[in-house]
Amino acid sequence: MTAQIIDGKAFAASIREKVAGHVARLREDHGLKPGLAVVLVGEDPASQVYVRSKGKMTLEVAMASFEHRLPAETSEADLLALVETLNGDPEVHGILVQLPLPPHLNSDLVINAIDPAKDVDGFHISNVGLLGTGQKAMVPCTPLGCLMMLRAQLGSLSGLEAVVVGRSNIVGKPMAMLLLGDSCTVTMAHSRTRDLADVVRRADIVVVAVGRTEMVRGDWIKAGATVIDVGMNRVPGEGGKTRLVGDVDFESASARAGAITPVPGGVGPMTIACLLANTVTACCRANG
Ligand code: GUN
Repeated sequence: MTAQIIDGKAFAASIREKVAGHVARLREDHGLKPGLAVVLVGEDPASQVYVRSKGKMTLEVAMASFEHRLPAETSEADLLALVETLNGDPEVHGILVQLPLPPHLNSDLVINAIDPAKDVDGFHISNVGLLGTGQKAMVPCTPLGCLMMLRAQLGSLSGLEAVVVGRSNIVGKPMAMLLLGDSCTVTMAHSRTRDLADVVRRADIVVVAVGRTEMVRGDWIKAGATVIDVGMNRVPGEGGKTRLVGDVDFESASARAGAITPVPGGVGPMTIACLLANTVTACCRANG
């Protein structure tokens, strides 16, 4: 079997187009302009790339973009003061503090200082609780993007065996909650799971977010399964350049899977598209 390639780039472009339409209607009908504030502390190169890309795409859908770049040595008090200011700013509907923060800053404290209604990352403890109890929550962007691709690919997910590999707060845990919400039978596996290959072999749906280059091999995949690769690992490429690869060995996995996301061009573009969609949602909820 040769897997169908799930085109996250095209899917994300269609979501951004819908978001742009929604933004235009909010402006014309209600005089509203959704605004997204992104806070970057320090100079982590990968974070700088993401933040630049978020700012560019925010402007492309005609939303307001507010970027706050703070030095790595910023104190916790100063960062919390900025979050408070953004919480109180009526032009800001969504706030994203780029992670990871420098080690002297307590990310839990900072994230939980964000107004939950503006928490477009869905990382605030109240949004985590709302999602976990099946209530209306801000849903984390990466797992939301994965869920949208799975629904588009498979239709109803009800009763399917889903294995999530990776237990991070950003992807693995919320992904498991979303799949449970769609009535999958969910197994949360991780790097310490015993007989991981056998666990993955049970799955109709495999979502991998462990941050380990090409860890999941083709012979771990049940024939016809749908594979979502959240990994983004930089490895040495040709001519001294680096190239991006996932947590799944694409070549062997695509020989067995029914459908698979590529890296790059799979999950990555969906994350930012969902962030923009969450910001529109936050703006609509803030304005009744
Ligand atoms: N760092 C890596 N992914 C994310 C994300 O989705 N949100 C934030 N805030 N930081 C990240």
